[in-house]
Amino acid sequence: MKVLSGIQPSGKLHIGNYFGAMRQHLQLQADNEGFYFIADYHALTSNPDPAELRQRCLDVVMDYIALGLDTGKTVFWRQSDVPEVTELAWILSCLTPMGLLQRCTSYKDKVAQGLAPNHGLFAYPVLQAADILIFDSNLVPVGADQKQHIEVTRDIAIRFNNTYGEVFVVPQEHILDSVAVVPGIDGRKMSKSYENTIEIFEPENSIKKKVMRIVTDSTPVEDPKDPCRCNIFAMLKLVASAEEISEWERRYREGGTGYGAVKKRLVELLHEYFRPYRQKRTELENNIDFVRGVLADGACKARAVARATLEKARRAVGLGD
Ligand code: ADP
Ligand code: TRP
Repeated sequence: MKVLSGIQPSGKLHIGNYFGAMRQHLQLQADNEGFYFIADYHALTSNPDPAELRQRCLDVVMDYIALGLDTGKTVFWRQSDVPEVTELAWILSCLTPMGLLQRCTSYKDKVAQGLAPNHGLFAYPVLQAADILIFDSNLVPVGADQKQHIEVTRDIAIRFNNTYGEVFVVPQEHILDSVAVVPGIDGRKMSKSYENTIEIFEPENSIKKKVMRIVTDSTPVEDPKDPCRCNIFAMLKLVASAEEISEWERRYREGGTGYGAVKKRLVELLHEYFRPYRQKRTELENNIDFVRGVLADGACKARAVARATLEKARRAVGLGD
């Protein structure tokens, strides 16, 4: 299967991104043809600082490589290095009904959060459809928040194929909801926009400080506690073994265990979990040429596929000779 997904370079990647998306992307690469990219055209919709945008793209690719991206097998590139998608997005725009985009909730949500309502933000799902269709993707692993965009993509693909003949593969979504939403240190969903994240590769002492700040209720140490309502336990479940999770569960319900003890253990487990990848991450920072090489190689492979599909779409709609 050809598996494709994109991730926006909108800030340092955090453990919510890892357990909610990246880990599954990395697992899926073993038995599939993986196509993953950094959605920097999409990131432009929020008008980031140019130097920051460039740096964030490098950070994303370094994070993926450090965490186990198979650079020999999986194609990984920066969206803007394959400008063919923007041409396809235009072609698709011309048969996308306004009503389809007006129904998309992500535009309304982002405007409600304070983003400027620009045309790129409104047309965002069409560019996403082009990303997916130009690579003949069968399966698109995304978080539940992206489900509507995959439906829009399927709708556009079917509409195109019905109008101009079979050009596009109609993709399946693969919703990554097997992992519950990872809470941030304030108890809301962990998100770059809430400044409540624990970054995957921030210094270990800073991770410790953040874990110590995780919000809990004020149940006294001796009292029994409900693990299912505890933010520390929700994170612990991501990194502890099954036996250890049941042991903590027992201790919560029994009483006599303070949140401080659980936080201390969570710090250790997070360090143990990500430590093997840290050294690789540092090596990559010192070998930016290699990192750029991965992106260049990915762009070259992705572009070859994109060109072929774009050419088919151009012919189908009557562009060119
Ligand atoms: P953010 O909210 O930090 O801006 P994104 O919207 O860029 O994160 O999400 C990138 C990917 O990470 C998506 O597939 C999303 O579903 C996943 N993700 C983000 N935050 C979490 C979280 N707290 N728990 C689980 N998955 C998450
Ligand atoms: N919109 C996605 C997000 O915010 C990122 C994205 C862009 C994407 N193009 C894509 C995801 C294509 C899957 C397929 O998370």
